[in-house]
Formats: sequence, structure tokens, C-alpha cells
Amino acid sequence: MHAEAIRRTYRRLAPVYDLAFGRITRGGRRLAAQHVNAQGGSVLEVGIGTGLALEYYARHVRVTGIDLSAEMLAGAKARADRLGLRNVVGLHQMDARAVPLPDATFDHVAAMHIMSVVPEPAHVLDEMARLCRPGGSVLIAGHYANQARGWAGVERRLAPLADVLGWHSDFTIDQVLGHPHLRLEERRTLPPLGLMTFLRFRRVE
Ligand SMILES: C[S@@+](CC[C@H](N)C(=O)[O-])C[C@H]1O[C@@H](n2cnc3c(N)ncnc32)[C@H](O)[C@@H]1O
Repeated sequence: MHAEAIRRTYRRLAPVYDLAFGRITRGGRRLAAQHVNAQGGSVLEVGIGTGLALEYYARHVRVTGIDLSAEMLAGAKARADRLGLRNVVGLHQMDARAVPLPDATFDHVAAMHIMSVVPEPAHVLDEMARLCRPGGSVLIAGHYANQARGWAGVERRLAPLADVLGWHSDFTIDQVLGHPHLRLEERRTLPPLGLMTFLRFRRVE
């Protein structure tokens, strides 16, 4: 999906996103927040969407979120206000492929259910590695094709519907593995039905 298609799709999905996708994608967000909470410091969430993870972060964690969609971001702002989350220090409309912030700005960088959405996942991964301080963690949750038994046919059939669904069902895990500055430290298969995968990387020099 190109940037304009993403904006259009998520403008349409924003009002129903939490109901439609919130529950099935919850596991990865919880695990990411648990890790960040245990370490403390700052986290950047790229493609923060409606901010479904915000409530999971401990109040000592400083959270910044970016997203391409103004409507999804508005949801995140409304959530932060409603919950009185003063540790949410910034929510910005930015493209995760080119983030105008200095290297090593954050202790952690998280991407939940966005890598199979963005047009150039390799650029997003480069940016995530760049923005994370050496020794910090990069956390990625998502659905990857051919990981859950019996779903390959469904994933193939849904692939042409990316603009409607808002993500590419045929996105493969190898596109987020093997980055020279990201050493894989944890890989977990998550419910429902093993359809989601959580990856935790250490940012290395
Ligand atoms: C499936 S939603 C996931 C939202 C949130 N991370 C969650 O777990 O619920 C994907 C989000 O990525 C955003 N997105 C897609 N491409 C992006 C880009 N290049 N830069 C920033 N955000 C992007 C979309 O606008 C959308 O809000």
C-alpha cells in the first residue's frame, strides 16, 4: 500500500479499529509494554494507531507515538486524554520511513501490527534501528504469512484485499529478520491460533 492508500484506508477504519482488531492483536502489545515497563526509560511506538497499547505502559515510561493517519492519531490523543496519561509525551503525524528525529533518541522502539502495512518495511526497520540507542530494544508484533498451520490458503486469498483490510496478509517474517543492527533475542508465537508473532531485538553496534 502506498502512503495515500494507507491514509484513506485508516481514515475509514479509525472509528471501528478498536472493535474490529483490538482483541486479536492484544497479545503483542501487552508483551511489548511488559518488556518496556521492566526496563524503564522512553519508548517510540511507530504506527501507534488509536493507541491501544497506551494503557499498558507503566507511568514511569515516557511514550512517544507517530502515525501517518490523522484519524488514528486522534484516537490515540483522545485515549491519552481520557485516561489522563501524562507520560505520553508526544503524538505526531509522521511517516515511519523517515522520522525527523536524531539517532539513538529512544531506549525502546516498538512497531505493533504495522510492518505488514507500510509500503517499504525495510526503510521502517532502518529507522527503528537508527532511533533506538545501542543496547536498547526493538519490539515488533505482527502477523506473518506461513507461520500458523492451515492458514496459508486464507492468507493467499486475502492478499489482493490489502487496501480494504489495511494490511498485507502475505507479508513474510524474513522481511523483519536479519537486520545488521538488530540481534533477535526473543521470538514468541501468540494467540489467537498462533496467528501472531512477537519479536524482541537488541540494538547492537
Ligand atoms: C494495523 S494498524 C496498528 C496500530 C497499532 N500499532 C495497534 O497495534 O493497534 C497500522 C497503523 O500503521 C499506520 N501506518 C502505516 N504506515 C505508516 C507509516 N509509513 N508511518 C507511520 N504510520 C504508518 C497506520 O496509519 C495505522 O494506524
